[in-house]
Amino acid sequence: MDVGRAPLYEKLVSHFESRPASFHVPGHKSGRGVDRQAKRFFEQVMSIDLTEIAGLDDLYHAEGVIQEAQELAAHCFGAEQTFFLVNGSTVGNLAMILSLCGRDDILLVQRNAHKSVIHGLMLAGAKAVFIYPEIDKHTGLTAGISIRDVEKALAIYPEAKGLLITNPNYYGIGSHLGELAELLHAHGKPLLVDEAHGAHYGFHPELPKSALRYGADMVVQSTHKMLTSMTMGSMLHIQGKRINRAAVKNCLSLLQSSSPSYPIMASLDVARRQMHTEGYEIIEKGLIHVRWFADQMKTLPAFRVIGSMETSDKFHTKDPFKIIAADLTGTLTGFELKEQLEARGCFCEMADPVYVLLVFSLATTKDDAERLYKTFKQINANLNLDKKELIPSIPNIYNLTFHHSVSAPISFNLDMIRHNKPVRHVALEQAVGFQAAEMIIPYPPGIPVLYPGETVTPEMADYLIRLDQAGAKFQGASLGDNHTIAVFAT
Ligand SMILES: Cc1ncc(COP(=O)(O)O)c(C=O)c1O
Repeated sequence: MDVGRAPLYEKLVSHFESRPASFHVPGHKSGRGVDRQAKRFFEQVMSIDLTEIAGLDDLYHAEGVIQEAQELAAHCFGAEQTFFLVNGSTVGNLAMILSLCGRDDILLVQRNAHKSVIHGLMLAGAKAVFIYPEIDKHTGLTAGISIRDVEKALAIYPEAKGLLITNPNYYGIGSHLGELAELLHAHGKPLLVDEAHGAHYGFHPELPKSALRYGADMVVQSTHKMLTSMTMGSMLHIQGKRINRAAVKNCLSLLQSSSPSYPIMASLDVARRQMHTEGYEIIEKGLIHVRWFADQMKTLPAFRVIGSMETSDKFHTKDPFKIIAADLTGTLTGFELKEQLEARGCFCEMADPVYVLLVFSLATTKDDAERLYKTFKQINANLNLDKKELIPSIPNIYNLTFHHSVSAPISFNLDMIRHNKPVRHVALEQAVGFQAAEMIIPYPPGIPVLYPGETVTPEMADYLIRLDQAGAKFQGASLGDNHTIAVFAT
């Protein structure tokens, strides 16, 4: 296997260079027809924006260059089989669930899952038994799920089809994956991992090992998030005998476009080659800058920075590329700190009421790291933060405290989003006791706090009020605009 090759990318380039006459879609004909004013940016990438013509293979019946590229990816990431995805980890999560669960089947699911997991359950008509994550009391951050809770869920619901977890979470924090895999396998069930934020795991000793290395059966990764493919480029990896691979393949062809983007697929091919041939070296380069930044921030005691060194018995793993920063004087919320940084040209991944999340990567430069540090220093000086009293630790009072570790089975179906029952909009204070008629999704990170049909508890209402007051953004919900939520009328 020649890991230095990128068969799909190379084929697209050689096709373009052979100066072919195109009598097929796409209509832009290798970028020639693109809008004149946009040409400068689009023309180059469109030159390899082709389709399933002779020699270019077919994603849904791969046996040529796409298949070669997928095999190289499987080898690189430690899978037995890899599927390229052109609709992000979103479609990977949907396919994982639909390939495993039918109507009324039970799936154990980590509660703070991405909305695509909830959508997958709806499409399948499956039931979720939610396992609630632990909260680290030192930082107020959500950690992974505990082995004890999974054991409990498996004892109560031995018919469950498997467990789907999100690892790492948005903040880069992970669970005891190896133990979870062993436990699930001892019960003859698969471990599915949404590793959207962990495509770079396993390529450097300072990074956690990948979910596949820990024995997960099916893993979805957003190659575009922490590695270098184009946005939407992702992969779904499988190993072992617990997964029905033909079902996964069929689900992917059902869910994805019949015209998958060749630039996205080729970018997966070259992102893989980069890892295969120089993964350690380029990750080390990125780590140098994030280490430097975390060190420099120690000179600004007004800020708390959770980098790679933070330990908690609840954080089994932590991605050093994810920097979580908070103002320890209590002057700025996470949202306000994000605004201050952005006003000075440093754009952040996301904020919550306490923290701002900064994503470094293998492509972060020394200049970027220095600019970010200088910006923190300016904010510190402008607000006189270092003259203020520090709060010794920030209990994240905004965190939703969960009262159950394992939920009862909850049925999901598409009626939940069809709005065919009477709905009314009420203030959050008045929503307690009603069933939510919409998903309430603070975005980012896109993790639903409420899903349709879920009863609003006083804790949830309180949590959402705090989030709303602190300036959180909510996707698709009325919450952000008029401070109400839709509930089912009866
Ligand atoms: C944990 C998690 N899973 C899945 C997704 C969906 O990934 P994608 O954007 O690649 O579709 C996201 C996106 O933010 C995510 O945070």
